[in-house]
Amino acid sequence: MTEASKSPQAKAPQDRVLIFDTTLRDGEQSPGATMSHAEKLEIAALLDEMGVDIIEAGFPIASEGDFEAVRDIAKLSKQAVICGLARANPTDIDRAWEAVKHARRPRIHTFIGTSPLHRDITALDQDGMAERIHQTVSHARNLCDNVQWSPMDATRTEHDYLCRVIEIAIKAGATTINIPDTVGYTAPVESANLIRMLRARVPGADEIVFATHCHNDLGMATANALAAVEAGARQIECTINGLGERAGNTALEEVVMAMRVRNDIMPYHTGIDTTKIMQASRMVATVSGFPVQYNKAIVGKNAFAHESGIHQDGVLKNAETFEIMRPEDIGLTDTNLVMGKHSGRAALRAKLSELGYELGDNQLKDVFVRFKALADRKKEIYDDDLIALMADSTTNAAHDTIQVKFLRVICGTEAPQSADLTLTIDGKDHQVTAQGDGPVDATFNAVKALFPHDAKLALYQVHAVTEGTDAQATVSVRMEEAGRIVTGQSSDTDTVVASAKAYVNALNKLLLRRTKQDPDSNLQSVS
Ligand code: KIV
Ligand code: ZN
Repeated sequence: MTEASKSPQAKAPQDRVLIFDTTLRDGEQSPGATMSHAEKLEIAALLDEMGVDIIEAGFPIASEGDFEAVRDIAKLSKQAVICGLARANPTDIDRAWEAVKHARRPRIHTFIGTSPLHRDITALDQDGMAERIHQTVSHARNLCDNVQWSPMDATRTEHDYLCRVIEIAIKAGATTINIPDTVGYTAPVESANLIRMLRARVPGADEIVFATHCHNDLGMATANALAAVEAGARQIECTINGLGERAGNTALEEVVMAMRVRNDIMPYHTGIDTTKIMQASRMVATVSGFPVQYNKAIVGKNAFAHESGIHQDGVLKNAETFEIMRPEDIGLTDTNLVMGKHSGRAALRAKLSELGYELGDNQLKDVFVRFKALADRKKEIYDDDLIALMADSTTNAAHDTIQVKFLRVICGTEAPQSADLTLTIDGKDHQVTAQGDGPVDATFNAVKALFPHDAKLALYQVHAVTEGTDAQATVSVRMEEAGRIVTGQSSDTDTVVASAKAYVNALNKLLLRRTKQDPDSNLQSVS
């Protein structure tokens, strides 16, 4: 038996639900969520370590960068099945195989839109599409013995036709059939009924795994996925923090914790080490530039915060009065006052390890320098400060094309405000003084003068990391250029410095995106 054929579904017990994470594919398609090669590898390693069964690592035909990311994730994978997405044509499928074949356990995932709307777009009638499905799934199966097939927009496809094409895909060798709710249109009862109907009607349904892939346009992605599981689906497709196009995908942390906390009524289990959830959430929020909303279930800053006196009193006496799960179950440690400028390297390493960051000696050396600089400016350093510091180390790397070297800003009641800025661009220093309407505007004008570009600023956002006037600020900057959207992020005790670095971080990501070439505009519509 090959490694590939030992796919998780082969011997899975009836109550085992496979977790298919598509943060690096569907999540990354979210406008502005572009991730670098190194960031994708880091996320994939953590997903593998936390027990994700299948990692959809990307869309190899989309660009050289996507191909290389999937290939390298495949090479470095340990336990997880590594999956690459392909449209229903041999060129896409071959490219996906070239990338995933390096994995111990590769999977090809091929799809085509089967609803009337999608059949119109592809100009195929029902028979023509059925023939295409037979050919492409057979082609994929000749390359790889683990093949997933998706009828995109399944929830808006006529039931008779859906049964017909799924039967064809199973006969052609698909081992997983995914049922996408591509536009987030379904509701829990319908999601369950659809899976039940398919299991009852499609010949060969017992031989394969049904997967559920839900989008959150009506806020029901988690409920729809769990309803599908009730009805017999045994693979949930999801992303960390629910990242994804439009309103996003089913959130991994929500379905995993729901099945764990309410195992009495949802008696299923996953292979996820839930204590890694917070670390994964922070990492994805940082590299995607999509901060997690404060009241987000499971991973939001307020998910375990008890503001009212009655709640605080209850939780202190017995945590179960107002907490249905323990913070430590998802890897959340107490937000204590942690360190100050006299803390040493060993203490920093221990604290970071508690927060889920395991650093090598060289990395620790760099982070320690940044930590000392922060401790000089800020007396009390909290967990959230260290998390922001680690995020900044990830997003603002020493090898970036553009780096902020020096910034001095004059601001106050008398206009004009001005910024004296030095950027290092491709290893050479460039200096300018620019004016603007306020310190941030002057700084951004200075960046534009040194590195001219047409990208438009689409969003500028500031969050305080902790409380107090010496708190660090995390700044997010979203930029748009010719349909490409990127988000940059940085933290500093000086809001204007954080703004300059976030802007430069966005520009570095834009440079990366410019090197990506979409084979055709249709790729933009895959969600
Ligand atoms: O939402 C969707 O239909 C998708 C498919 C490519 C599976 O992401
Ligand atoms: Zn999708």
